[in-house]
Amino acid sequence: MDTLTIGLVGSGFMGRAHAQAFRAVGGLFDLPLTPVLDLLSDRDAATAAQAAAALGFRRHTGDWRALVADPAVDVVAIATPNRLHAPIALAAIAAGKHVYCEKPLATTLADARAMMAAAEARGVVTLVGFNYLKNPMIALAREIVESGDIGTVTGFRGIHAEDFMADPAHPFTWRCEPDNAGGALADIGSHILAMARHLVGDITAVAGRLHTVHPGRPVMAGAAGTRPVTVDDQAHALVEFANGATGTITASWIAQGRKMQLAFELVGTKGSIAFTQERFNELRLYQSGGPAGRDGFRTIVAGPEHRDYGAFCPAPGHQIGFNDLKTIEVKALVEAIGAVRAGRKAAAYPDFRDACEIERVAEAIRVSARERRWIEVATV
Ligand SMILES: NC(=O)c1ccc[n+]([C@@H]2O[C@H](COP(=O)([O-])OP(=O)(O)OC[C@H]3O[C@@H](n4cnc5c(N)ncnc54)[C@H](O)[C@@H]3O)[C@@H](O)[C@H]2O)c1
Repeated sequence: MDTLTIGLVGSGFMGRAHAQAFRAVGGLFDLPLTPVLDLLSDRDAATAAQAAAALGFRRHTGDWRALVADPAVDVVAIATPNRLHAPIALAAIAAGKHVYCEKPLATTLADARAMMAAAEARGVVTLVGFNYLKNPMIALAREIVESGDIGTVTGFRGIHAEDFMADPAHPFTWRCEPDNAGGALADIGSHILAMARHLVGDITAVAGRLHTVHPGRPVMAGAAGTRPVTVDDQAHALVEFANGATGTITASWIAQGRKMQLAFELVGTKGSIAFTQERFNELRLYQSGGPAGRDGFRTIVAGPEHRDYGAFCPAPGHQIGFNDLKTIEVKALVEAIGAVRAGRKAAAYPDFRDACEIERVAEAIRVSARERRWIEVATV
């Protein structure tokens, strides 16, 4: 079988998840190409060497430019701090590589648009790491919405809340830098915006509010000196969708007690769906018209009947995990590249175009918060 040579930039939280996914995907799914972990780059040669050995890459380099220019590399996977997404992706596209980039796509909407335009002009496959969309229970949620079983969607209340920055003594990191797309809205709000778009459709207008709760953080763990923080710790927005539904979006990284509350309630005229990533092998469904006194939500547990779950486990209720979502994500990339190599037109989802739309809504929320008024997304 033909191979697909992977070049990975960054070996932190997400770099490791990318490596695991590329290693696992061929054994789980019937794919047109076999991914090969080839070249790993990190901020310096020593870090790259250590990570390449640990993650099973054949080669390493301390310079991402060398990775992007390497003729053997077919796919450039970007798992670096956000400010490097655009330069690495643009260089990779110019070299004719397919690109798998972590979210948020870029640090500015202009960069995101340039990345999308370059990828489309060059005809490479792109994929962005909105892995939560790949959950079999989210596929089920979308299927229920599209079937009309809960009627017309009228409302979406979405939140992505965690508490990893709740302690004001948590040090300043790249996630706090404005020019690194810092802040809760970009970092985790982008995930719930992607989910809203995936299930309800495009957001057309927003009224946003951003809030910096901790205006200074230690320069490093335990340090007495602090560095000012200007990015948002929490963000809220009222939103209107193209299909007439309305709703709210919240993002917070200081939500005490919440470890992974990427959650929503989606309300239709005949029922509702409720979900939280903290219990992501479950979907709660309400359909109106139940018998009086026994009317209520029921919990559907993930099993092999749900898309992609069966590749991991033949038994219902045994549950899949976070890294499995990344593996399902990578499957879409390999399939799309396989189709393109076979001469067919194909795209992975969500690609740079989809991610650009998500960036646009996030930017509209920022403009709205700054100008303290509703913003039509089309004007951004
Ligand atoms: N999809 C998700 O669920 C998810 C979760 C976490 C993070 N992310 C995204 O993944 C990206 C990385 O986040 P993370 O949590 O893995 O960060 P991290 O800090 O754990 O890892 C970043 C990696 O990039 C490397 N790096 C820094 N500068 C570099 C350079 N010049 N050249 C090469 N490598 C360099 C670092 O050494 C490190 O290995 C971000 O864009 C983030 O938003 C996505």
